[in-house]
Amino acid sequence: MPLLSLLLACTTPKSEDLPAPLLVPAPVWMEDGEGSYTLDGDTIIHADADSRAVADLLAEALRPATGLPLEVALDSAAEGGLRLELDPSLDLPAEGYTLDVFEDSVVIAARDTAGLFYGTQTFRQLLPPEAWSGTAVEGTAWSVPVVSIEDSPRFAWRGAMIDVARHFFGVEEMERQIDLLAMHKLNRLHLHLTDDQGWRIEILSWPLLAEVGGSTQVGGGEGGYYTQGDYVALVDYAAERHITVVPEIDFPGHAHAALASYGELNESGTPVDLYTGEGVISTPLWLEGPATAGFVADVLGEVAALTPGEWIHVGGDEAVGVAPEDYAAFLVEMQAVVSAEGKTLAGWDEIGVVPLAPPFLAQHWFDEANARDAVTRGGQLVASPAEHAYLDMEHDTAADYGQIWAGRVNVQDAYDWDPVPAGLDEADVVGLEGAMWAEFIDSRERLDFMLWPRLAAHAEVGWSASEAREWEDFRTRLGSHGARLDVLDVGYYQSRQVDWVHP
Ligand code: ACM
Repeated sequence: MPLLSLLLACTTPKSEDLPAPLLVPAPVWMEDGEGSYTLDGDTIIHADADSRAVADLLAEALRPATGLPLEVALDSAAEGGLRLELDPSLDLPAEGYTLDVFEDSVVIAARDTAGLFYGTQTFRQLLPPEAWSGTAVEGTAWSVPVVSIEDSPRFAWRGAMIDVARHFFGVEEMERQIDLLAMHKLNRLHLHLTDDQGWRIEILSWPLLAEVGGSTQVGGGEGGYYTQGDYVALVDYAAERHITVVPEIDFPGHAHAALASYGELNESGTPVDLYTGEGVISTPLWLEGPATAGFVADVLGEVAALTPGEWIHVGGDEAVGVAPEDYAAFLVEMQAVVSAEGKTLAGWDEIGVVPLAPPFLAQHWFDEANARDAVTRGGQLVASPAEHAYLDMEHDTAADYGQIWAGRVNVQDAYDWDPVPAGLDEADVVGLEGAMWAEFIDSRERLDFMLWPRLAAHAEVGWSASEAREWEDFRTRLGSHGARLDVLDVGYYQSRQVDWVHP
């Protein structure tokens, strides 16, 4: 060591030691060291052209609370500050990253931009919880502990479904939830866009679907729908945060709102009345109707054209009153339409009985035999078993509302399960998804209350290796994570299973 450096090392006060970070989801490997790194007015985020978007998002996220300029500079080789290194030759899994905090710099490296983005999400959790504030916070040192992390997800599909059909949630609220999903390294947003009580996406070739079918919701409120521009804006906002939107158009059941919009979709020739009740009626399409096949192809064609993601979810659940052979023929036809659009079909587990051609995804919610059938036919599973993953279920007897047909789903129920059913292989399962049905969820407060913190538990089930997961450890980390959710003004359910730490 040159003499000057030696002298400086001896005279520079050592940075403060900070407690080991409590991260959600837990990283695969972490080793903490001594000392800390502190963001200040001179801190620069170094990036290159390909990592620029991730660097900009990080700077934009941190500026409001810290009040620091956090300039983004395109000079990835520079020393000091925060450095984002995108290197496709790195020996890391997809979406993985390394994060090294030294006393004088921070380096986040990944082989893809998703990995870099997740590295920045972890970095944000290393900071004090106040860093998540959207307004200026005074008197806080923006320090992170010296630490070394290597991390990557267990599953490629880490999702949340939000039912915007029973009650409509607009673009602003959905963008807020997308930010929360991204914070937890979730990467799929499944939008349940159509159901008996509402049609929520504009279809230019069938405009009354949105105008009539989107005009109300459960309870008779005014409903709403995404214009195609709104939908594209949501898809883009999600994509910037490495979240793929999976649109669901639920056929052949749950189609009442469509039948209320167009007479020609009904055998009587007359539209049915709009339905605003809470219960599932699952009105089926009139499958042999002369307009129906063209209608389905038009809708799926427009939705596919607006959707850059690989998957179109066609529902397929609870097709009551549809003969099994008609159901199978319809699903096979749906798959042909979706494939012609260059997309992969996804559906609820009932599609497992249909002779579909792989690749396809079956979302297991109710009947594991259906899910196993789907795997036998070459499909892969998205695991959403209601007793662990249905977010409309009541948390516990102390919660004020929620369904109970699949039992109560407290945080530990959302955490203590494995997405791979006994006897199936890891390769049969692409991942998991928490599903938020919205018959009773009509406000931001209720949405927050049902989604959080259970989605944080799902995020860890989806991300962290199963042998590394342990409820008591998660419970402790989640308690601290509550402070971040508090700062973000998330109205999460303060389950008594967790000792919450508030800022
Ligand atoms: C469902 O809950 N009907 C998929």
